Amino acid sequence: MQKPGILIIHGPNLNMLGVRQPEIYGNVSFEIYLEELHAAFDEVRLGYYQSNHEGDLIDCIQESPTSYRGIIINPGAYTHTSVAIRDALTGIQIPVNEVHLSNIYAREDFRRVSMIKDVCVSSF
Ligand code: DQA
Repeated sequence: MQKPGILIIHGPNLNMLGVRQPEIYGNVSFEIYLEELHAAFDEVRLGYYQSNHEGDLIDCIQESPTSYRGIIINPGAYTHTSVAIRDALTGIQIPVNEVHLSNIYAREDFRRVSMIKDVCVSSF
């Protein structure tokens, strides 16, 4: 039987983890974290998708219920601006968890708004 699938979705600039502002986001690339996640959660089929493009993220969200039981999403800066990503998440029937590397509520004012928080089952 196939393992239950969880899809991790990363938005813009998160392909630069390890290089981009290491004082905020750390100096480890997500590929390293992903290896650790695979090792720690062997019972789960973990998928990973990253895009710098809003429409591509929306396509991925819309397609995700055919292959996955849940989503973990860090939309990057789209967290604060994208009604379209919020609408895409609202339109699917699998649970969505919002995650961030930094505490967005302790940073600049413009980062303190999450467009997706209230359509997610959890936010970290
Ligand atoms: C982020 C926070 C956002 O404000 C920022 O634009 C990011 C990363 C985080 O994980 O802390 O790209 O989502």
